[in-house]
Amino acid sequence: MLENKAAILTGGSGFLGRYFIHGLSKNHNTIFILDTAELSDEIKVEFSNIDLKFYCVNISIENEVQNFFQSIDQNINVTTLLNAAAKNPSLSSEGMVGSSNFEDFDLKNFNSSVGETLLGTALMCREFVKFTNDKNNEEKLILNIGSDLSVIAPDNRIYGTDKNGNKIYKPIEYSVTKHGIIGLTKYLAVYLAEKNYRVNSLSPTGVFNNQDKEFVKKFSKTVPLGRMIEPEELISHVAYLTSSDSKFLTGQNILVDGGRSIW
Ligand SMILES: NC(=O)c1ccc[n+]([C@@H]2O[C@H](COP(=O)([O-])OP(=O)(O)OC[C@H]3O[C@@H](n4cnc5c(N)ncnc54)[C@H](O)[C@@H]3O)[C@@H](O)[C@H]2O)c1
Repeated sequence: MLENKAAILTGGSGFLGRYFIHGLSKNHNTIFILDTAELSDEIKVEFSNIDLKFYCVNISIENEVQNFFQSIDQNINVTTLLNAAAKNPSLSSEGMVGSSNFEDFDLKNFNSSVGETLLGTALMCREFVKFTNDKNNEEKLILNIGSDLSVIAPDNRIYGTDKNGNKIYKPIEYSVTKHGIIGLTKYLAVYLAEKNYRVNSLSPTGVFNNQDKEFVKKFSKTVPLGRMIEPEELISHVAYLTSSDSKFLTGQNILVDGGRSIW
């Protein structure tokens, strides 16, 4: 029987949302999902056994985030925040959104990644702490989703060319934002330690999502374990990091990357 605990998940409508929900549902029976994109009916049906509540919130807009925290039952036992919302440029047959040479990087894209993902994540942490602090003596948990690109540079040799034949580069703002997530994690782990919060990051490598075969082959060669991660493999890591099983772990970035970052 689960204890009565609630978690907040940002970015839950995205590709990895269902796996983050799976992981959280091991230890939480209510999950608030905040996203600017609607949650699919498929997910609502899949998780009809838990209390899933969707809120259309842009995490980088202060009053939207504050309104969310004001609108929920003030007595609900929210213990956990999982920050997954991000501008995540992925590869498609067209190319990659935001790809450009560094010499030509787009200021709007840069601002919108740092100013939305990074600032939004920090804002969510701030309002979560204000909401949960002093509520009870229970431990509180923040888990921020990073990436292997939180610690290594993108290997731009693997992305190929777009439909116009231009070389694809992972946008600079993704690296900067994801490195920032680790800085935020460490800062808050120390700042919040005496208030009984643990703050960690979970950093997956590229997740398999039926990408182009040639790309998957090239990517896999950069990973000592020889493949991309399957999305299901994230579930146990999320469950561990959002439960007391990870007791005494704080300020850490757990890389689930098949060894990619050590090669
Ligand atoms: N998919 C991968 O291969 C991979 C690898 C490593 C890390 N990650 C990280 O995992 C997380 C989830 O990735 P994904 O593949 O599901 O990405 P995704 O793009 O499918 O989902 C991201 C979600 O975040 C939401 N979002 C973005 N900005 C927002 C904002 N300002 N306010 C509210 N919601 C916002 C989007 O609407 C989207 O639903 C991201 O942090 C990503 O960087 C993904």
